[in-house]
This record gives sequence, C-alpha cells and structure tokens, in this order.
Amino acid sequence: MGINVLCAGDVVGNPGRKAIAHELPKIVKERNIECAIVNAENISSGSGITPTLFEKLLKSGVNLVTLGDHIYRRREIIATLETAPQIVKPANLPPTAPGREFAIHETDNGTQIAVFSLLGRLYMKPQGDCPFKAADRVLAKIPSEVKIIVCDMHAEATSEKVAMGWHLDGRVSILYGTHTHIPTADERVLPGGTGYITDLGMTGPYDGVLGRDKARVLQSMVHAIPARFDVATDDVNICGIIASVDPNSGRCEHIERIKLPHHVS
Ligand SMILES: [Fe+2]
Ligand SMILES: [Fe+2]
Repeated sequence: MGINVLCAGDVVGNPGRKAIAHELPKIVKERNIECAIVNAENISSGSGITPTLFEKLLKSGVNLVTLGDHIYRRREIIATLETAPQIVKPANLPPTAPGREFAIHETDNGTQIAVFSLLGRLYMKPQGDCPFKAADRVLAKIPSEVKIIVCDMHAEATSEKVAMGWHLDGRVSILYGTHTHIPTADERVLPGGTGYITDLGMTGPYDGVLGRDKARVLQSMVHAIPARFDVATDDVNICGIIASVDPNSGRCEHIERIKLPHHVS
C-alpha cells in the first residue's frame, strides 16, 4: 500500500495557520496521511516565521516545514533553523546561510520521508545559486535507504518549475512548486515516477490578492498610493496535493490536487 503524503502551499498569516490547526487533524485521519508537509514562509503576518508559529504547526500535525525567499524575515527563527530537525532552508542558499538542506520524517511504521527545497532564479531576488546543481548535491547526501523524497521548488516562473520536474523525474517521489500562491491544474505523474504540480497554491485567504487585503493592494496598484499590505481574512482554503507513494520504490502512484475550505467561525 502506498504512503499518503499531504503537501500544502504557502501558509499565509493567522487565517492560514488556523485553517491548518482546525482542518489538518481531520484530513490526516480521513485520508490516512502519514506525512504532512507545509510551506510556511508567509505564516508570520504574511512574511517569515517565528519559533512559536513553527511549534504551533507541529502541534497541528505538520511533520515537515519548508520556506522560501522570506525565510529570514523574522530573524528569531534562525536558532530554530539551526537546531530543529523538521525545518529546512532552500538548499541553494549560500552554505553559510543558517539551516539544514534536507529533513527526514519517520512514520509510525518506520518509513522515512525526506524533504528539501530550492529557490528559483527567474524573476526572483538573486539569493541562491543554481537550483539544478543544488538538487543534485542534496540528492547525493540523502541516505540511500530513504526511498521517499519530496522537493519544494519555490519559484516564480512556471518554466523553471517544469524544467526542475524533468530534471528530477525518477529521482524524487514528489516535486511541487510554491511561491506564486495560485494553484495550477497540471498535476500528473511524470514517466519516471515523480508526482508533479507546478504550484500548490496557498493556504490562506483567497478573497484578496495573493493573501493580502485587496483594498490595500488596489490602493497601491490603481492609485499609486503606498499602503501596508495587511493579510486578507475571507475565503480561506488549504491548497495543495495528496500523493500516494510506493514506500519500496519511491515512485508516486497517484497525485490529487486538493482545495479544502476552512469556514471561519
Ligand atoms: Fe509565499
Ligand atoms: Fe515566496
């Protein structure tokens, strides 16, 4: 039987965190999820993550956490990145950047699942070196007994994410994109056995602009008046995928896109 892995896109602010806290335990039970991975680069008021918020994610049932270009926006997370075994930095950041390049979650019956993440270079701030070479380097370091490997490609350009899918097809079990906060409809299992989707979308409020209050964004975009981009509040959804992976071969057997509403009470 396959191992069910849930991957959810960028958790935005308190609405995203609450959606995970309320809905994830139910999904884990209903769908027999053995590993839940979230990208949490936007959980602290829309930008960055704090140790407290990281702990809250773990308490909600999250097993592994990836980040992105906002990784160090809240500097207090640095000590956590250096010590906690469940959180990773993008692997193509400089070697001196705090954090581990991959993390491993072990399920109750001993199956190991590794995760690593990469930053894209197209239309992004130039923070990382070549994500393709970084992926090769990390894969060489992950112990060979770990058969299930998940990669979060945090990038703006669809082309760069599709290219990474082909680069890693057959070498990772699941490869998904994050960062744009908009889900794509191209989920599929590539010929080599990698479950692929260009972007998971975000876990947060869709009644806004990429999770931010739409009135504030419009003030800035329409009238050119600077505004603080507060996190939006309504139409909160957990967006991502549930993938089933063969624990012996590491091949993805099935990938399903999910959009789960969270009704704010
Ligand atoms: Fe994001
Ligand atoms: Fe990002």
